[in-house]
Amino acid sequence: MRKLLIGGNWKMHKGIKETEEFSKVLLNKEIKTEGIDVFIAPPFTSIPTAVEIFKDTGISIGAQNLFWEEEGAYTGEVSSLFLKELGVKWVIIGHSERRNNFFETNEKVRKKVKKALQKDLNVVICIGEKEEEREEGRAKEVVEKQLQEGLLGLEYNPEKLSIAYEPVWAIGTGRTPHPEDAQRMHSIIREILGKKGEEVRIMYGGSVKTNNVGDFLKQGDIDGALIGGASLDPDSFAEIIKIARGI
Ligand code: 13P
Repeated sequence: MRKLLIGGNWKMHKGIKETEEFSKVLLNKEIKTEGIDVFIAPPFTSIPTAVEIFKDTGISIGAQNLFWEEEGAYTGEVSSLFLKELGVKWVIIGHSERRNNFFETNEKVRKKVKKALQKDLNVVICIGEKEEEREEGRAKEVVEKQLQEGLLGLEYNPEKLSIAYEPVWAIGTGRTPHPEDAQRMHSIIREILGKKGEEVRIMYGGSVKTNNVGDFLKQGDIDGALIGGASLDPDSFAEIIKIARGI
């Protein structure tokens, strides 16, 4: 049985002060996380604060990126070693915003995934088609290529690697695929992953809110949600966790 996985991707939101404010409100709600996995991925600079505040709360802390080398002349990059030192447990790799704005290729994604797994971090690899690719009927082809090239030759423990299917056209737009269409894509992704696919958790991401998360999570191949905008508000993030626990 795959445990549901709920992740909050804060993107470039919330410095230390706002992280403290968010956490205070969220933790005051005494949310329960038994039976599911929950993580929040704040910006790098807010990670130490978040790790400290969420210690022993059932909510782990993730990073939104890392670099594939551990040390060296790589100006502006962040090493897996530094993340481990902070107590980071999760890392999101290959988000479409990184692929599209920072030219992250499948090959770069693979190098990052390899390093993250080597360091025993829990990895979430983001994949998903753009609007024009969907209109051209190429969604499956795009996702398959991202997965195959992103995982090429990698040995992995399916418990440590999750996939987030995030159609680019659904991110931050308020538009989503019908949960049954998302389910179909998740089932295709599971098939592409082969034998290990049965154990890999496949999250859905893209305009997930309190009013639609339940419909996604009820689908047999949707094992969680990666949430952007709605994870920034402690009330809606708490409500999403509550809904997930009730599925
Ligand atoms: P939104 O939930 O804001 O659409 O963002 C989704 C996302 O990109 C999560 O990684």
